[in-house]
Amino acid sequence: MKPTLYICREMPEEIVAPLRELYEVDMWQSTTVAVPRDVLLEKCATATALWTVISDQIDDEVLQVASKLKIIVNMAVGYNNIDVEAARTRGIIVTNTPDVLTETTADLAFALLMATARDLIGAENALREGRWTSWEPLGFTGVDIYGSTLGIVGMGRIGEAVMRRAKGFGMDVLYHNRSRKHGVEDMYGCTYAELEELLASSDFVLILVPYSAETKGLIGKDELERMKETAILINVARGGIVDENALFDALRTKKIHAAGLDVFETEPVPLDHPLLTLPNITVLPHIGSATVKTRLAMMGLNQKALLAFAKGEEPNHQVT
Ligand code: NAP
Ligand code: GLV
Repeated sequence: MKPTLYICREMPEEIVAPLRELYEVDMWQSTTVAVPRDVLLEKCATATALWTVISDQIDDEVLQVASKLKIIVNMAVGYNNIDVEAARTRGIIVTNTPDVLTETTADLAFALLMATARDLIGAENALREGRWTSWEPLGFTGVDIYGSTLGIVGMGRIGEAVMRRAKGFGMDVLYHNRSRKHGVEDMYGCTYAELEELLASSDFVLILVPYSAETKGLIGKDELERMKETAILINVARGGIVDENALFDALRTKKIHAAGLDVFETEPVPLDHPLLTLPNITVLPHIGSATVKTRLAMMGLNQKALLAFAKGEEPNHQVT
């Protein structure tokens, strides 16, 4: 008898087809609506393998009912939607999709930085709404990217890829990690800084650390107060790393100049969220890795991990 695979979101048939040869595949039939919690709990009771996306919360409650579960493959590099420790203690393998999305997410991070610096969305809206009445000496002005300092909090795979782009744009780069990367410093001429120093010295602060108990609320009131009044905060990592209430206050009172967010504490962000009332913020619906090529590559890694598991081989990209 084949093991059961539950897929929490509708995936393209060409990706799923090879899995049908080794698994009894059951799949939530929607690309846009997340699998409801009660369905997830019911399906997990019989599944040997589970294919999740970041909106699926795989916590202790799910794992408790999932007595047959042996592997979870997550279609993301971030895996904070899964209680990895609880999975590990139950002997369940968890895999993710690093590397294949690095350059695509770095492109988006840099695009969001540029869009926020020059308020591209605000300018486009002004044009479309008939508010472009003449060329104004100080109309639609933003801040320079060239010659400015970018502070990257989380100089990992994506951080490094953004740093290379920043160097091409004539930026100085500071970074903060728990550990220094001397090789990267030597190769690209970026500089390590403690978080306080990075916040105080950067014109752009880009958040790219994973979400964890340690990084939850990493950027709060005190950290925002350390930033320059002219500075811009960009978060492409996870909502919750930046305290949204503190960010709202800092933007409203102009303690910082602007922010660009691809991620929110609650996703989709509620349309009545206070942050959405502010003019000095550029917002995106969590699209860091969203190109067809990259999303298919992420699915491909998940598919390979599932095929390997079913054949008794070692699945790729296991997280610990
Ligand atoms: P990565 O290679 O693991 O890089 C993360 C970096 O953060 C590492 O260099 C790590 O260095 C540093 N770090 C971890 N904890 C830290 C802490 N407490 N304080 C300071 N630095 C810390 O991961 P990645 O592939 O670049 O991805 C980063 C994150 O981006 C993912 O976890 C995900 O949440 C997010 N992401 C978002 C999107 C999107 O669509 N918006 C797409 C892809 C990824 P040390 O260990 O030395 O501290
Ligand atoms: C997306 O947010 C990811 O972690 O891949």
